[in-house]
Amino acid sequence: MTAYTARAHTNIALLKYWGKADQELIIPTTSSVSLTLNEFYTDTTVEFIPDLPDDEIVLDGKLLSGSSNQKVIHVLNLVRTKANITTKAKVISTNHVPTSAGLASSASAFAALAGAASKAAGLNLTRSELSMLARRGSGSASRSIFGGFAIWNRGTNDRDSFAHPIDEDVHWPIQLLTVIVNDQPKEINSRVGMQSVVATDPFYQAWVDHANAQVPAMLTAIENHDFQKIGQLAEANALQMHAQNLMATPAFSYLTDTSWIIIRLVQRLRQQGLSVYATMDAGPNVKIISMPADTAKILVALKEQLPNVKTTVATPGPGLEIIKGHHI
Ligand code: ADP
Ligand code: DP6
Ligand code: CO
Repeated sequence: MTAYTARAHTNIALLKYWGKADQELIIPTTSSVSLTLNEFYTDTTVEFIPDLPDDEIVLDGKLLSGSSNQKVIHVLNLVRTKANITTKAKVISTNHVPTSAGLASSASAFAALAGAASKAAGLNLTRSELSMLARRGSGSASRSIFGGFAIWNRGTNDRDSFAHPIDEDVHWPIQLLTVIVNDQPKEINSRVGMQSVVATDPFYQAWVDHANAQVPAMLTAIENHDFQKIGQLAEANALQMHAQNLMATPAFSYLTDTSWIIIRLVQRLRQQGLSVYATMDAGPNVKIISMPADTAKILVALKEQLPNVKTTVATPGPGLEIIKGHHI
């Protein structure tokens, strides 16, 4: 059968998904809003090969095993059921983003897998269907089907929990200046971290209610290109999410001393009149929501305090792209 290659970009949530109402189907407790990024992405090629005894999944040149392998096989099984085939597949994936470091590799990974695997199996899914399929691999991947700003409406079941585009071609100045504190794999992956919060945080329901109430305000802010409001809401939502991790038993935190140095720096720059806001996913790396005109000033302030830190300026990126691949 024909091989297909898909490219999907990561997305960073401005309003976070942090907890599942249904762990098997990956139905979230809150709706979430994100920005897809041009600079970080995954390329994945899938080919279903008759007589292949087992699925073979290679990520960055290494054969996957254990739960990482199972998550990919789970999505391949969903595709096989839809296409009514039993053929096993070869999957070759390359991350142009640090894997498992809180920079949303699972978002680009499972969006690319949904695109390549469905095409390789002969399916022609709509973008809503691709979003549902990607969601079953990793919740945040539901949003990476789309470019620019997207919302994942939480829904209540397998067929109504998927993402929609809000504004796919972002032609106004917004960027995420990404500060790489640590690009190594985290100790507590997102799935385990959020489940621990859902199961043990006594304040979890309050977080859910508050986060869902932030959604209409964020949509209005995006519609109005209201940079400050987007930044304020995103920073508050991120800190509130990270606060939940401290409320869990056992308490944990993805943020390190260096993360806090950067968060405080962002607050100080704001006091000096710059429009800058911080957001962090499940990892220590801080993304500074900012405008291109302020990049130089931010970098000077950052290098003064943290001379060795690596940065990438990430701009709004496109949705899922699929190209016909070569045989694997
Ligand atoms: P992140 O912050 O990078 O999204 P997660 O804990 O959510 O961290 O997800 C990391 C996991 O996603 C990896 O351990 C692996 O299971 C999976 N993953 C990441 N990239 C790929 C890929 N290209 N192909 C398949 N699985 C991937
Ligand atoms: C903090 O989508 O990686 O980045 O659905 O279990 O694979 P699983 O988790 P994942 O969680 C993302 C958490 C987050 C916030 C977000 O992207 O919305
Ligand atoms: Co993830």
